[in-house]
Amino acid sequence: MGSFGHGSAVFLVASLVTLVGVCYGGSDAPRGVAMGFVFDPKAKCDPPCEHAGICIRNNTCFCSKGYEGETCKYANCYPKCKNGGICLRPGKCRCPPGYGGRYCHKVTCDGGCWNGGECTAVNGVAKCICPSSWTGSKCQEALCPQGCRNGGICVAPGICSCPEGWLGGACHTAVCTQPCLNGGKCISPNKCRCRPPFSGPHCEERKKSH
Ligand SMILES: *[C@@H]1O[C@H](CO)[C@@H](O)[C@H](O)[C@H]1NC(C)=O
Repeated sequence: MGSFGHGSAVFLVASLVTLVGVCYGGSDAPRGVAMGFVFDPKAKCDPPCEHAGICIRNNTCFCSKGYEGETCKYANCYPKCKNGGICLRPGKCRCPPGYGGRYCHKVTCDGGCWNGGECTAVNGVAKCICPSSWTGSKCQEALCPQGCRNGGICVAPGICSCPEGWLGGACHTAVCTQPCLNGGKCISPNKCRCRPPFSGPHCEERKKSH
């Protein structure tokens, strides 16, 4: 940074008074004295002031709004970035994985939580808390408390999709396209268990007795 000309020095002092005036809430103290620092137009700051900060004395920067630190290097975020977020530029946080929102104050679950699940931090890790009828990392899997038997698939809470040949809430009822006769029972698709003395695919035969 080179030295300032007279004109630019006046301009800078004027802008500083404006800035400080805001901070001091328009105090009646004489200008320049109330500021609490002397502006030196020949001041040198090395390393230079960043982010449009003004070098007011040797190695003293006056930072523009939103920045802080000796050389105005650091952006500040208000409210502060939460949960380990980093302030990228004034008011803009970069959040660590699992957090989101303007100030990283919200827990975010990758891919979201489905079916009414709620994203919550559990030991610092974002996790979906699922309603009782759903499970899985995103609450994407329905639960069938009755169980889905015989190769049935739980497709919605309490609802099984059954393979061919099976029916019922838990796919527990076999279907025999031809009925089992003489008190026989359909025990698996198209298979009858017959009551003695009957036999045959549909229990239609009576065993010969000796
Ligand atoms: C600021 O530093 C320069 C050299 O870098 C020096 O000549 C000057 O006197 C210093 N100003 C003050 C107010 O200390």
